[in-house]
Amino acid sequence: MLEGKNILIGVTGSIAAYKAAELTRFFIKAGARVKVIMTTSACDFITPLTLSVLSKNKVLADFYSPGGEWNNHVELASWADVFVIAPLSANTMAKMANGISDNILLTTYLSAACPVYFAPAMDLEMYRHTATQKNIATLLSAGHKLIPPGNGELASGLTGEGRMEDPAKIVEIIAADLLVKNKLLKKKVLVTAGPTYESIDPVRFIGNHSSGKMGFAIAEAMAGCGAEVSLVSGPSSLKILNPSVKRHNVTSAEEMYEACMNFFPGSDIAVMCAAVADYKPASVSEAKIKKSEGSMELRLLPTRDILASMGKIKKKNQILAGFALETENEEENAAEKLKKKNLDFIVLNSMKDKGAGFGGDFNKISIIGRDHKHIRFELKSKRDVASDIVNKCISLLDCA
Ligand code: CTP
Repeated sequence: MLEGKNILIGVTGSIAAYKAAELTRFFIKAGARVKVIMTTSACDFITPLTLSVLSKNKVLADFYSPGGEWNNHVELASWADVFVIAPLSANTMAKMANGISDNILLTTYLSAACPVYFAPAMDLEMYRHTATQKNIATLLSAGHKLIPPGNGELASGLTGEGRMEDPAKIVEIIAADLLVKNKLLKKKVLVTAGPTYESIDPVRFIGNHSSGKMGFAIAEAMAGCGAEVSLVSGPSSLKILNPSVKRHNVTSAEEMYEACMNFFPGSDIAVMCAAVADYKPASVSEAKIKKSEGSMELRLLPTRDILASMGKIKKKNQILAGFALETENEEENAAEKLKKKNLDFIVLNSMKDKGAGFGGDFNKISIIGRDHKHIRFELKSKRDVASDIVNKCISLLDCA
């Protein structure tokens, strides 16, 4: 399952540290190469020798080895394909969330560019504490993956949330993610995001509230599965971190049309998430329009429907997906758009749920396919919604 993968395990001071032995063993059995780093308090719960024997590698617990040799945390971080910190104590979690780097595990964490998974283990109240929950939110916002603790009997005798997830399950979660990671290798993907601005004069425009968050999350998720992504973005202050995403900034619907028609013929998948203006001013004043008595009328002309234009030239082996934002007859209208624009599937956004929609970090979607099947998802973070959309594209590619 994990043949050739480099797994770095970080072990911190929690009673669940004893499970690190099993975790190491399972990763080795799955074919991975494993290295282990520990905090000094983790060494009170399990010996470095145990983990060294099981991982077949030297275990680091300090910046210097007993012989005085410096342990290079930067090299270690770049060696890792995945860094999994299990168990993660409340203390180390707090340090990670605040960028503190006073031991080798933390300096390695700060140097790691690979996916980071964290499996907390602590007592019930410690896990529930607002400080811990805030730290978890910070780590999630850094793009790390939480392996949530299970519910059950804790070492303290209390029962509740806080037990580190079973080592076999941790290996299973990471292996599944790594398998998905290569699903879009060599695939070219076009994603649009954000609003468009249609100029009225040099200082004013018609726009909308789209932040670009959903489209950016889709672009990142596609790249996370190995795709080469062209992200055509309307005005947005968001940043892209993944180097496999090439960003092309546009302002107006016309500029977005030109960019999309350029990239689409060479794309395997296109997901059109942008909130494109349907109308633009009939003429753009060269000078700032001065205020005058009475009312003012602005004549608008329709913009080109980018998605519909792509639907017309779409080849059989290309996947084309659009978004729909509806306020009434949601599913019927979305299904109608799917047909009219010749899409493989359409993502229906809900405006009704608290926290969902423009600017927020959450979204609630349904995916409607050509087969008229509706898949309705729960309210989720835009990152998780992006994964659902990517998975839908992967399933269509697998069927092709
Ligand atoms: N879209 C597009 N070009 C436009 C308008 C919309 O490519 N000029 C795309 C959007 O990116 C989205 C989909 O079409 O993927 C649906 O957009 P939406 O505004 O919901 O639908 P419209 O077709 O514009 O219809 P209406 O606004 O009447 O609902």
